[in-house]
Amino acid sequence: MALVTGAAKGIGAHTARLLAEAGATVVASDIDHGGAAPDRGRFIAHDVTDGEQWKAVIASVEATEGRLDILVNNAGMILNKPVLSTTLEEFRRVQTVNVESVWLGMQTAAALMARSGESSIINLSSIYGQIAGPMQAAYSASKGAVRMLTKAVAVEFARAGYGIRVNSVHPGPVDTDLGRSGLAPGIAAGRFASEAEAKAFVAAQFPMGRWVETADVAGVILFLASDASRFMTGTELTVDGAYSIL
Ligand SMILES: NC(=O)c1ccc[n+]([C@@H]2O[C@H](COP(=O)([O-])OP(=O)(O)OC[C@H]3O[C@@H](n4cnc5c(N)ncnc54)[C@H](O)[C@@H]3O)[C@@H](O)[C@H]2O)c1
Repeated sequence: MALVTGAAKGIGAHTARLLAEAGATVVASDIDHGGAAPDRGRFIAHDVTDGEQWKAVIASVEATEGRLDILVNNAGMILNKPVLSTTLEEFRRVQTVNVESVWLGMQTAAALMARSGESSIINLSSIYGQIAGPMQAAYSASKGAVRMLTKAVAVEFARAGYGIRVNSVHPGPVDTDLGRSGLAPGIAAGRFASEAEAKAFVAAQFPMGRWVETADVAGVILFLASDASRFMTGTELTVDGAYSIL
């Protein structure tokens, strides 16, 4: 039984589909009510920044599915802006959506997940939680926080004997609305004539020659959700075709 947040589109939607194909019952949640239910499962409206909604979602999963084995904290947002023109409210909003949501999710789901015996939490960070994200300082700060939050909670849950593994996934630029939005400053500054030109420029930075696809990330999430990774906790897995190591 899996809960995937931010599953109306992008990485979350692909992950919900893949987990369902692998045999899991999937609750796909999103603040955007237009999300489609996976074949095996249902869609639930859920703002991940709201602690009361988290309690309601976990209570609904407990009442309907009776257990929770996999939690994918995927919902997130980006801000592509220079530090000097970012307001404190904008900075805080990114931390609220990207960091507080993950903390709330782990805290609210832990008791139900511990009852499963063996369970897995996968938190979406980014390569910009590992290396600098220029024009993305608020986002980079939030994803660095998700990286360390993951490790701290992994150790705490392991020592407590909850049977809950906690790992983070760090994609490079993924071809989604969020990923493509990172091209906007370069286009606005006249460095690229079009989005297609900017996309091709970024693709050429990947040693593997293309953007990350949602399937690339969903596959790694499936691995971390499965028993194949049963002795991995507090680990960070980078999915970027070697983009960030050059
Ligand atoms: N696309 C990339 O290049 C990239 C790279 C590294 C990491 N990531 C991370 O992967 C995750 C998914 O990104 P994506 O590219 O699929 O983005 P996306 O914009 O395509 O989808 C994000 C989803 O999250 C939902 N969401 C946003 N705020 C929410 C909230 N408060 N409550 C519930 N749902 C909310 C949106 O409605 C949307 O459906 C994010 O955490 C993102 O930071 C993305």
